Amino acid sequence: MAAYDFETHNYDAIVIGAGGSGLRATLGLAENGLRTACITKVFPTRSHTVAAQGGIAASLGNMGPDHWQWHMYDTIKGSDWLGDMDAMEYLAQEAPKAVYELEHYGVPFSRTEEGKIYQRPFGGHTTEFGEGPPVQRTCAAADRTGHAILHTLYGQSLKNDAEFFIEYFAIDLIMSEDGQCQGVVAWCLEDGSIHVFNAKMTVLATGGYGRAYFSATSAHTCTGDGGGMVARQNLPLQDMEFVQFHPTGIYGAGCLITEGARGEGGYLTNSEGERFMERYAPTYKDLASRDVVSRCMTMEIREGRGVGKNGDHIHLNLNHLPKEALAERLPGISESARIFAGVDVTKEPIPVLPTVHYNMGGIPTNYWGEVLNPTEDDPDRVVPGLMAVGEAGCASVHGANRLGSNSLIDLVVFGRAAAIRAGKVVDPKSANPTLNKSSVQFALDRFDGLRHAKGTVPTAELRDEMQRTMQEDAAVFRTDATLAEGVEKMYRVAGKLDDIRVTDRSMVWNSDLMETLELTNLMPNALATIVGAEARKESRGAHAHEDYPDRDDENWRVHTIARVNGKVDLSFRPVHTNPLLGHNEGGIDPEKIKPKARVY
Ligand code: FUM
Repeated sequence: MAAYDFETHNYDAIVIGAGGSGLRATLGLAENGLRTACITKVFPTRSHTVAAQGGIAASLGNMGPDHWQWHMYDTIKGSDWLGDMDAMEYLAQEAPKAVYELEHYGVPFSRTEEGKIYQRPFGGHTTEFGEGPPVQRTCAAADRTGHAILHTLYGQSLKNDAEFFIEYFAIDLIMSEDGQCQGVVAWCLEDGSIHVFNAKMTVLATGGYGRAYFSATSAHTCTGDGGGMVARQNLPLQDMEFVQFHPTGIYGAGCLITEGARGEGGYLTNSEGERFMERYAPTYKDLASRDVVSRCMTMEIREGRGVGKNGDHIHLNLNHLPKEALAERLPGISESARIFAGVDVTKEPIPVLPTVHYNMGGIPTNYWGEVLNPTEDDPDRVVPGLMAVGEAGCASVHGANRLGSNSLIDLVVFGRAAAIRAGKVVDPKSANPTLNKSSVQFALDRFDGLRHAKGTVPTAELRDEMQRTMQEDAAVFRTDATLAEGVEKMYRVAGKLDDIRVTDRSMVWNSDLMETLELTNLMPNALATIVGAEARKESRGAHAHEDYPDRDDENWRVHTIARVNGKVDLSFRPVHTNPLLGHNEGGIDPEKIKPKARVY
């Protein structure tokens, strides 16, 4: 048994992670009068939300007609009918309120001539339930929207007396014998001390696990820490096979070029200079949904129409746009293109390639952010004391494919929803739970075991092996053969964690140990992804299975539930097919949201 001294802290609520959803939850919890701490492994304004460029979707109607029901419909269609209707309805209906709150908190949105929040078109966002022209629904602060939101929410959280534990790495959840979350054990990177956070409510806002792949737009910190912690408590992950490839990562570097570039009039071309999206998606063209555009680009390359000396990428053209528009609306990506691709966007096209960008799957929750531990009898069973929001969670609002700019709105709508719910279920006057000592000890023993790991495989080598396997075998297009091989390889790779080697045994800023802890979080996420993908015998959203090219609603309109404990155990959970509001209560016409072929 490992012996470490630790300091204990008592809070009503703790939030793990300080990206957009973590900060929105922190702010809301503090505003609700709960004693709140936010524990984060990076400085809040360096969280990955800072990299979000194009904007945040809400049907404000500032640029033309829009309606929350059109937004809801587009989200349902984008999800390829896998999203939960109640969550998607909640998102679309609450979005305008959540954006105006951000404006009032101080987010410096770009403005129209009349001084309203500027909105741009984004892929898959339309009018008239997909029958009308594209809509300008994505509210933008130039192409640095995430940056603007993050700074504002951090300032507001401090103003409301939320406490921050910065550069603290969460090791493991503390769970009671009867399955209630009681907080988390964390390691302070700066001075090496160990901390036990006792909380009535723990909110996981740890982001996605893009770094399970070799090439991703995600920061190196996106290591699925929440998913890893949950999996170690035998709690499930949901719909992990759905991994989004963003059409326009910079070729080679992988950095994001916002979809807002196409929203502002940019377009893709192949080696023949052809605007090929017109062939695949005659109505919405370059503004079709992301999974569709990524697949079309991949097909162009496979059929020999890629650009560059190896014919292995595609061109994104912006040089026809007015210089002033580029400078005003897209300054960030103009700079990224210059630095990472050596391209002057006013003169040359940007070389781009579909790049891993977002995880639709995650920790299953209801639309209040409460974590679910489904059983056959109760598919919506709540885990007391535990919530998950943002990319770490799966509400499920994105289903099989997320629309661009629906991520930032997901962060703030569900971060806010979690705070509202916690305000109702957490009693600030009640005593904190008596901690389960064996759960605390489990975290300390695991930490100590890795700290002194004397195996033969260095962490960086094993991480590289995992990333290359996922990149190759759980790609844009998948087959029975690649997936079966990928599952076998990933089990072998994950098995090597038992033989991991950590060379630095110190406690202060030990990045070798931190990266090893991160790898132990990435691994269950990666395993659940590839095993879920192998099991799903259909094509839906981002899961493009070449041996089963059609969507199969009869057998597969169902959420995948994965428990990862050495092996991955799969089960299924029904999709919520009913919105919260009936048609006669002002809700959407049920006829409009019946599954149908998804064409753009
Ligand atoms: O393209 C982008 O700006 C990314 C936005 C998003 O993922 O929502």
